[in-house]
Amino acid sequence: MVARVNKKINMAIVGYGYIGKYWEKAILKDNRMNIAGIYDTSINASDSAGHKFYKTFEHLLNDPEINTCIICTPTDNHYTTAMEILSYGKNIVVEKPTVLNMEEYNKLLEKARENHALVFNAFHFVYSPEIAWFRTSIPDLHKEYGKIGSFYSYFSDPYFIDGELKNKALSLLGSWVDSGSNILSMLYSIFDSIRLDSLTFGDSYAGTFSDLFSTASMKFNDSNKDAGFGHTVTNWVSNSSFKYTDFTFPETDSRIRLNHSGLTVTISNDTGSKLLFSAEEENHLLAHYIGLEAAVYEALYSGKGNEEYGKMVYNTMYSPLNGDDANA
Ligand SMILES: NC(=O)c1ccc[n+]([C@@H]2O[C@H](COP(=O)([O-])OP(=O)(O)OC[C@H]3O[C@@H](n4cnc5c(N)ncnc54)[C@H](O)[C@@H]3O)[C@@H](O)[C@H]2O)c1
Repeated sequence: MVARVNKKINMAIVGYGYIGKYWEKAILKDNRMNIAGIYDTSINASDSAGHKFYKTFEHLLNDPEINTCIICTPTDNHYTTAMEILSYGKNIVVEKPTVLNMEEYNKLLEKARENHALVFNAFHFVYSPEIAWFRTSIPDLHKEYGKIGSFYSYFSDPYFIDGELKNKALSLLGSWVDSGSNILSMLYSIFDSIRLDSLTFGDSYAGTFSDLFSTASMKFNDSNKDAGFGHTVTNWVSNSSFKYTDFTFPETDSRIRLNHSGLTVTISNDTGSKLLFSAEEENHLLAHYIGLEAAVYEALYSGKGNEEYGKMVYNTMYSPLNGDDANA
C-alpha cells in the first residue's frame, strides 16, 4: 500500500519562512488540504498564525494526524529533514532543489519506498501562467510557426549587491541550484529530453553551490520533432529581478519570448511583434504556488508523487558536477 492519504490531506509546514507562508496562502485559498501544524526552529507558538505549533521536530514526527510534510527549510537542510520525515512513513513535498546530488536523491526514493511514502518535488516555476499557456499552446504554435529550434533562458535576481549576499538569499545556496532547478523543471515540462553539454560557474561567495552566476548549454529534443541547443544564464550580481525565456522557430524566423517577470508571451518576426498572452495576476509567486498546490493535491489524492520528474531534473542539473553519467 502506498501513501495513507484520505479525503482530507493533513499537511505540516516545516520551515515557516518566506516560502512557507506562500504555501500557507495557497493551501488556505484552495481549502482542499488542511494545515494541521507548523514546525520551524526559529519561531515560537505566537508566530505560527494560529496554527498548531510543534515545539520539537519529534512531536511533529510522532503526530499520527500528519500524513504529509511540506519542507520549506533552507536548501542545504532539505535532504536530512526529508529523510527523517520519510522514515516515519509520511509523504514529503520538498521545495526545490530537493537534493544537492543524485546520491541523495536515490537514497530519498529508497527511503520513501521502504516506508510506503510519496515524494513530490515542488517545482513552482512550472505553474507560472505564461509557461502554462505556452505548454498548452505548443500544438497550435507548431502549426503556425514550425518547430522549436533553440532557446535562451535568462534568470536574474538581485541577491548579491555591493559585494554582499542579501539576507533573502541566505537559504538558497547559489544561483545554479536556485534558478537552474526552475529552468530545468520548466524545460522538462516542454521537452522530453535535455542533455547538459557544459556548465560553468561565475564567482562564488562561500562554500559549495554558492555561485553568483552560471552559464550552461544543453541539447533538447522531443516527440514533436523540436530539437536543437539552448543556453541558460543565472545571475545574482546585476541588481535586477528579471527573467525570460526565448524560443526560436527557425522555419518561420520567429522568436517567442516568455517574460516570466511580466507574465506575458510575445511573438516577434518580420511582420513585427504581437502579444499572444498576458496574465492578470499581480503576485507572481502566489500564482505559481496556487498552481503548484493544486497539482500537489491532485497527485497525493490519487496516491502519486512525481519522483520520476524530479529524477530527470536533478540528473540533468547535477550531471556535470558529480561525475554521474546522468545524461545517459
Ligand atoms: N525565496 C524564494 O523566493 C523561494 C521561491 C521558491 C522556493 N524557495 C525555496 O524555499 C526554501 C526556503 O527558502 P525561503 O526563502 O523560504 O527561506 P527562509 O529563510 O525565509 O525560510 C526558511 C525557514 O526555515 C526555518 N528553518 C531552518 N532550519 C530549519 C529546520 N531544521 N527545521 C525547521 N525549520 C527550519 C527557518 O527558521 C526559516 O523560517 C529554499 O530551499 C528555496 O530554494 C524559495
